[in-house]
Amino acid sequence: MPVMNDLSSVTPLLAIETSCDDTACAILDSEGTILSQAVLSQESHAALGGVVPEIAARAHLEVLPQLVDLTLQRAQLSLQDIRYFAATIGPGLIGGLIVGSSYAKGLAIAQKKPFIGINHIEGHILTPRLPYALKKQEIESLTFPYLALLMSGGHCQCLLIEDIGAYRPLGRTIDDAAGEAFDKVAKMLGLGWPGGPALEALAQEGDPKSFPLPRPLKGREGCDFSFSGLKTAVARIIQPYGQQALPRLIAANIAASFQQAVSDIMEDRIEHALQMAPPVTTLVVAGGVAANKKLRATLNAVASRHNIAFSAPPLALCTDNAVMIGWAALERLRQGERPRDIALPPRPRWPLSERKVFSASLGQKTIAATEAML
Ligand code: KG4
Ligand code: ZN
Repeated sequence: MPVMNDLSSVTPLLAIETSCDDTACAILDSEGTILSQAVLSQESHAALGGVVPEIAARAHLEVLPQLVDLTLQRAQLSLQDIRYFAATIGPGLIGGLIVGSSYAKGLAIAQKKPFIGINHIEGHILTPRLPYALKKQEIESLTFPYLALLMSGGHCQCLLIEDIGAYRPLGRTIDDAAGEAFDKVAKMLGLGWPGGPALEALAQEGDPKSFPLPRPLKGREGCDFSFSGLKTAVARIIQPYGQQALPRLIAANIAASFQQAVSDIMEDRIEHALQMAPPVTTLVVAGGVAANKKLRATLNAVASRHNIAFSAPPLALCTDNAVMIGWAALERLRQGERPRDIALPPRPRWPLSERKVFSASLGQKTIAATEAML
């Protein structure tokens, strides 16, 4: 475990996450204990088969005030008790980022408290260090450096985590994200959206060896990922059925074969990443796709072969949530950083390797003016 600098002056900390289609709020104390948290998943996208950015932004705006109130009530706190406000300011859908970060900044200004802007991906990859997420034996093993595999609806990348703020990218997807591939194949199979959980459930009924699907980039140097060829191969299998519904067994066999292919790809890519990186203590998986039991088991086995620990957050902390944003804020504040990010604009694209977040277009005057309010 990291050395805990005293965080009592910055906690309770309230965090907001709105970068995609989940509206989330959480309050953490100085030990990283979750005092309360709430996540509202927007269901309106299911009928449309994917996230519609404009609808997502409006929905965040509609529910965020109530969600923040609910989170405060559950923690038996009032806004005046909060000492620091945090929100995701990137990467993500710009509308949602504007709603969440502006709301958190507004609260901070009204309460005369500071605001810290957090990178969504940093939230995912630091979550396994959260005391709540750690099993006892992992508390000793989850030290730097560790390897993090982030697999979500929008991202698929592997990073070497050397310290807080020192993230070395080892590889990333060259086309679709892992979750996107699950969602697209699930859609072809007539499953709902998001498709990952439904595809995993259906795969249990199928034979993973029934369809010989490709393993793009398998065996290639480096640790980049590719899933679009896999998706096209599934489309070719389904094509002869036209508008007809797929027989359940065929659909289950495709789901199982697809999941097996993704699992083989991940295994191969992480083997390569482990060769590229210096010795690491742990393999960490994060992001919504890390909820997949088959993938977890495969990656756990890779870690065992290399004699390193394996760590995956509890399922509720794998998918988007505000606890991870609050925790990433605490990790940064624990290092003694006291950022005043109130004038920072949201950043729809924000590579994790870029630590500096100030926008060149922001005048010093604006920053000075907003900081003077705190
Ligand atoms: O991290 P996350 O909640 O949101 C993003 O930042 O994208 O990840 C959502 C993604 C979706 O694509 C969803 O289908 C996928 O994670 N997912 C899964 C499973 N549960 C969620 N994919 C495969 N198997 C699962 N059990
Ligand atoms: Zn995410």
